[in-house]
Amino acid sequence: MMRFTERFHHRVIFAVATFMTMAFTSFASIHEGGDVAKGEQLFKANCASCHKITNEVLAAPGLGGIDQRWAGKDALLVKWIQNPQAAAASGDAYIKQLVATNVPLFGWMAGQAVTEAEIKDILTYVKTPPAGAAGGAAPVNNCQTLEELKAEAEKNEESDGFIWFIIIGVILAIIAVSAANIGRSLKNAMNEREGLPMEAEVGYWTSAKAWMWKNKTFVSIIGVFLFCYFAVVGYSTLMDIGVYEGYTPTQPVWFSHSIHVCQNEVDCQYCHSSAAKSKHAGIPSVNVCMNCHKGINKGKITGEKEIAKIYAAIGFDPATKQYIQGYEQKPIEWNKVHNLPDHVYFNHAQHVTVGKIDCKQCHGPVQQYTVGHQATLDEINSQDPADVPGLIKLTKPTLTMGWCIECHNKAQIDLTSSEYYEEMHNRFKASALGQRTIRDIMEDGEVTVREMGGWECGKCHY
Ligand code: HEC
Ligand code: HEC
Ligand code: HEC
Ligand code: HEC
Ligand code: HEC
Ligand code: HEC
Repeated sequence: MMRFTERFHHRVIFAVATFMTMAFTSFASIHEGGDVAKGEQLFKANCASCHKITNEVLAAPGLGGIDQRWAGKDALLVKWIQNPQAAAASGDAYIKQLVATNVPLFGWMAGQAVTEAEIKDILTYVKTPPAGAAGGAAPVNNCQTLEELKAEAEKNEESDGFIWFIIIGVILAIIAVSAANIGRSLKNAMNEREGLPMEAEVGYWTSAKAWMWKNKTFVSIIGVFLFCYFAVVGYSTLMDIGVYEGYTPTQPVWFSHSIHVCQNEVDCQYCHSSAAKSKHAGIPSVNVCMNCHKGINKGKITGEKEIAKIYAAIGFDPATKQYIQGYEQKPIEWNKVHNLPDHVYFNHAQHVTVGKIDCKQCHGPVQQYTVGHQATLDEINSQDPADVPGLIKLTKPTLTMGWCIECHNKAQIDLTSSEYYEEMHNRFKASALGQRTIRDIMEDGEVTVREMGGWECGKCHY
């Protein structure tokens, strides 16, 4: 009897335990227990161009708190990520509301080619990102602080201010001169009434001369200062002919690379999408801006002022979140920063895709720039090699022929990096002459761009 109850008890305990584990696994949501590191990689590769892991909007609502919004709907969530329209067809009330608020703004999310296990990794990462991951709140790595960015925005305003300063100065001078005239006319009128002799009509030049004579010291200090100023400016202009390092034209919109690339981790090629496949890197059209700015109408630095210029270009009403019908759209007219002469051929894809050269090797720490500018060698060379793998330090000013040539002399080619080189290598190996060429090239144990013809005039000149 005793033994039976004992056995019975064991069975009950076993049954309860089994039930508990089953219950636990079905309650252990898809937001936990995945591989965070894998999830981070998958998230960056598949989701980060539209979603942040916080509540901030990018080109779609942020995924912060997603575990609560979809609590108890794991299967439906997996379905949503793999095929949003199919998930919407389920008629779920939350999805209905999600679609109603977001699809008019961002369009439908495209179904993602990720497995259920991968989604578990991603959602675990979203819920419990490792410390120091881009939470969006604290600036990532070495981003500029809000204060630094504000100072730059103000500097931008000041350059407009300087023109006003000059205009106001000229207006004041005109007023001063006419006031002097009026003063004299008044004095003459009084003199006339009192029968005194009239004051002679004095030319401006004569009175200016008299004034300058009276203020000799002041005038000579100003004179010496102006002379030195123009001498220095003139000299450096002469020395810099053909060198435009540091060139930073003003731009129609206060666009900040720092805010987009550093704070929000938008990839260079999201905006300069043709850099990897064609000659030009290209400047993004207003439509690219709208992918995100349909949802973001305010910035931390400039408020609504600058983003409003995007809406003015494309005809979008941020109040109704609608495009204005029949609006005459006009592109934002960005001023070109880099400009090689017409006789030079330069190809981005060749360097970015085939040569595997980082944008920052040629354009400097763009993640800290406001508007684009032509990098100086100092900026390029002083970057952290951890930021720019394989950083090659050069000595000639950027965009000069010496710069291209020097890099072609220093940059090594990895012959295994492309089929093109492998093919060439095989052809060389097939003949005695080819084998000698390979020996010559490999004498110093490395293959540079120069040795592959990177110094031939015709490669760079039309
Ligand atoms: C091209 C842009 C884009 C990409 C890439 C993208 N999404 Fe989305 N996602 C959206 C949009 C837009 C919505 C809002 C609903 C809509 O408009 O379809 C959304 C909604 C969601 C939602 C529901 C949000 C909520 O608040 O309930 C989840 C969850 C989600 N996405 C997960 C993912 C995951 C995970 C990935 C990567 C595997 C991903 N998305 C990739 C655009 C994108
Ligand atoms: C080997 C040096 C080099 C690398 C690497 C490089 N660029 Fe350039 N980039 C240049 C030069 C040189 C120009 C000027 C081209 C001209 O005036 O025709 C330029 C021009 C540009 C322009 C102006 C528009 C245009 O297409 O002329 C943009 C934008 C740009 N680069 C972005 C990028 C991005 C993004 C990357 C990385 C994906 C990159 N660059 C990589 C050298 C480089
Ligand atoms: C991938 C998404 C994305 C794209 C594409 C994008 N932006 Fe932004 N933009 C953002 C985010 C995020 C912010 C930061 C909002 C904030 O300050 O909280 C921002 C902020 C801004 C600001 C305000 C800066 C401030 O703090 O005052 C301006 C102006 C701006 N963007 C212009 C542009 C222009 C012009 C384009 C197109 C060339 C563009 N953006 C493309 C995401 C994007
Ligand atoms: C959100 C969109 C966006 C992203 C991301 C972005 N850029 Fe730009 N970029 C622009 C816009 C808009 C301009 C034109 C205005 C200007 O010159 O600042 C520009 C200009 C430039 C220029 C100067 C082009 C010229 O006229 O010669 C260079 C170089 C450049 N970007 C490089 C980069 C690099 C490198 C990255 C990544 C580290 C990057 N950009 C990321 C939008 C972007
Ligand atoms: C930071 C280094 C670097 C700079 C600067 C640079 N290049 Fe290059 N360039 C390379 C590399 C690496 C390759 C080889 C790519 C490959 O594997 O084919 C290359 C290849 C080329 C080729 C093809 C050569 C061939 O044999 O087919 C041309 C043309 C070229 N570059 C033009 C230029 C011009 C023009 C400039 C200056 C405006 C320039 N490059 C600046 C690194 C550089
Ligand atoms: C790797 C690319 C490259 C190669 C190879 C190259 N050049 Fe150049 N060359 C340039 C660039 C870039 C400029 C424009 C420099 C500037 O605007 O300051 C230039 C400018 C010139 C100029 C005009 C001078 C000037 O200051 O504008 C002449 C002439 C010239 N190159 C001749 C040659 C000759 C001859 C060869 C062959 C021995 C050659 N180049 C090979 C890139 C190259």
